[in-house]
Amino acid sequence: MTVGPGSLLPVAFQAADIASELIRTRRPASVTEKSDRDLVSDVDLAIERKVRAYLAEATPDTGFLGEEEGRSGNPASGWLWTLDPIDGTSNFAHGLPLCAVSLALLHDGRPVLAVIDAPLLSERYHAVEGHGAYAGTRPLTASTTTRLRDAVVAIGDYATGQEADRKNEQRLAVTIQLTPRVHRIRMLGTAAIDLAWVADGRLDASVTLGNKPWDTAAGVLLAREAGATVTDSDGHPHDLNSAATIAAAPALISQLTALIPGR
Ligand code: IPD
Repeated sequence: MTVGPGSLLPVAFQAADIASELIRTRRPASVTEKSDRDLVSDVDLAIERKVRAYLAEATPDTGFLGEEEGRSGNPASGWLWTLDPIDGTSNFAHGLPLCAVSLALLHDGRPVLAVIDAPLLSERYHAVEGHGAYAGTRPLTASTTTRLRDAVVAIGDYATGQEADRKNEQRLAVTIQLTPRVHRIRMLGTAAIDLAWVADGRLDASVTLGNKPWDTAAGVLLAREAGATVTDSDGHPHDLNSAATIAAAPALISQLTALIPGR
């Protein structure tokens, strides 16, 4: 790519338009379990197929990784789109409006462009590396809270499926650690909205003990561009290989990571 990733923002917006229109206008006609209580609907699949086809035509040299149907395109180019067609599928399937399209462009594994669109909330966020994060034309500013006791902290869903019991031991332990120390805990059921709302300063932090690129890549860029710090559970800067995704007002990061057992 000879021009900066910002030149692809109109393409990313068009992809988000395709996806958000489907979320706004369709109710799920069929919902199936990919694994134990992990849902996919016909709307997730329709969005991913349409966006994959659109991006393959608009950016033929860029690979694509979707949550539902995996990789396609040119894996050697160093450029990769990653899409969660509906982050928060369980919410969507139950008629809860907390769900989002999460689209990121990665360069050599690093998110450089992000769009998170929450169609049922009429909210769209975007960021380009080095150019800030925005909701429309409004710049996003992450929280500068310094005390955990003032912080509203979103935590990721408890696990379902393989190794759920082992994973939930750690998740429940984090809840136990946070409960007496923070202002409030929230569980929204969508990592993309958690991270977008950290970027927007609505949440002071989010603790996601996982890191699927389609769930987190866009939100990580948004949060960083808005001034939040994003790390793994050990406090090291977050990257594609991180096991967890902790985003917070900068002064809160070390206080939070210190509370994650078995990190
Ligand atoms: C889920 C959401 C949720 C996270 C789960 C993800 P999905 O994504 O991001 O917040 O805790 O691990 O699977 O399945 O609704 O796209």
